[in-house]
Amino acid sequence: SLIAILAACSSGGSGGGKEATKENPLIIKFSHVTAIDSVKGKASNRFAELVAEKTDGRVKVEVYPSSQLYGDADELDALVSGNVHMIAPSVTKMVKLDPRWQYVDMPFLFEDEDHARKFFESDVAQTLLNSDQLANNDIMGLAFWENGFKHFSTSKHPLQKPEDFKGLKFRAQAGKVLESQFKALGAGSATISFGETYAALQQGTVDGQENTFNNFDTQKYQEVQKYFTLSEHGRLDYAIFVNKPFWEGMPKDIREQVEEALKEATDLEWQLASDENKKSFENIKNSGKVEVLELTKEERDAFVKALQPVYDEFGDTITPELLNGIRDLK
Ligand code: LMR
Repeated sequence: SLIAILAACSSGGSGGGKEATKENPLIIKFSHVTAIDSVKGKASNRFAELVAEKTDGRVKVEVYPSSQLYGDADELDALVSGNVHMIAPSVTKMVKLDPRWQYVDMPFLFEDEDHARKFFESDVAQTLLNSDQLANNDIMGLAFWENGFKHFSTSKHPLQKPEDFKGLKFRAQAGKVLESQFKALGAGSATISFGETYAALQQGTVDGQENTFNNFDTQKYQEVQKYFTLSEHGRLDYAIFVNKPFWEGMPKDIREQVEEALKEATDLEWQLASDENKKSFENIKNSGKVEVLELTKEERDAFVKALQPVYDEFGDTITPELLNGIRDLK
């Protein structure tokens, strides 16, 4: 797109070093893949406003939503090369740099929202944000942003028990853990970027998907899916990543103001995640287009059992340290 080309042309590697004034502000390019009215869309726009307020217009955050600048496949590369300065991907998409980020996909690892938030603020979470794997690629993580629990959906038939997945094909975000999850259920999967998922569901390239209420609703999957199972089998959360040389090259006073804005935006984002997911759940139920299925305790247990092989296969990769660290926070 024209926007992508213009943005690529105007981005020096190190906007961070220059003097920033109201007339000639320092630009932070922030790229993401979800809709403007999604949790992440709303929170990133609010972040941009807070930065403008706190820096008195000396820093301008340019938010590019809906994969319009970079999609899943290339936003991380764009961050490494400094073509964008900030991204907030679903953390599993960091698998290329550090496979431990797939902790988020480990089946039924998190009890509830509170458990996820305790994790975001924990020391184990900090070790992921500040890892050598990221630093070696000129990236650092600054904060966790929440979305919520994922649920399964399909256009085919109700998904009430593991056997119902046999022979179906699902869209996955990234990584081997999700592939293993669907395999354990007897299903196939394909990694498809977020921006292409609606079309893949519509055209029947895949039969189903998994996502949060809010992503489902703001992508209008109601139009292309029929059965929605309240499974809460895994999570979808974000972290804010920045290009490290750019970040560290910002004048200290300015960086501190931007950090303050991020802290406020993060509080707000957590609130949005819970409010907007609740609203989206209502929208899904009221759409009249999707049958919403609940799982009994026994049905849920059957999924827990069926997905145990994912732990056998990936426990070591995610590391016992991280998995136990998360479990200990319950
Ligand atoms: C997805 O690909 O389903 C999500 O990661 C999109 C997002 O950023 O929430």
